[in-house]
Amino acid sequence: MEFNKLLSAIINNDQLHARWLNTLSLMENTGARKISASEDPETVTYIILKHAAEEHRHAFYLKKQIEKIKSVECPTYTTGYLIAPKSSRYYLNQLDIDVCRYLKKELGLKGRDLRFAAYLLVTYAIEVRADELYPVYQEELDRTGSKVNVKSIILEEEGHLEEMINQLKSFSPEWQFHADKAVEMESKLFLQWVDQLNSEVCN
Ligand SMILES: [Fe+2]
Ligand SMILES: [Fe+2]
Repeated sequence: MEFNKLLSAIINNDQLHARWLNTLSLMENTGARKISASEDPETVTYIILKHAAEEHRHAFYLKKQIEKIKSVECPTYTTGYLIAPKSSRYYLNQLDIDVCRYLKKELGLKGRDLRFAAYLLVTYAIEVRADELYPVYQEELDRTGSKVNVKSIILEEEGHLEEMINQLKSFSPEWQFHADKAVEMESKLFLQWVDQLNSEVCN
């Protein structure tokens, strides 16, 4: 099923839609916690603090949107309240592992430098994805007249991509090459995730 069709099938089913929002919330929360964990306690910047705060807000905001779907509750991130739980948990963690492996092998990075470079590349790839995914979701929400709304997230994600590019530019003159590698790794994981979503929604 095409991605927009998959989203409209999810939106049209309250149970699935609530679990979808909860799953996005889980993934935003995972991202936020990863950014916070990669922060250097001394050299952390305004941009990184802002970014972590906004990703935490996205997790909360998505959770709050579930209240607009009456009669369905998703109080926690336990498996029964998620869609494609395995793949949704695996996605970001595996991307982190893949990117760290790449940075160690290709650039010989370790310790603090590795953590920072992984933050840059993983987050870049995710921002590219977020800039694609949320607008398609919002379009389907508008089309179906849903009360759920992710416009404020879309605005912030656009800012994040720009901020990541600026940080990457000062990280390396070859930033685009490394960033493309990260996007390649992310795309494989994203397709696996969509496959699992599809098989759950179509069952
Ligand atoms: Fe986000
Ligand atoms: Fe973001």
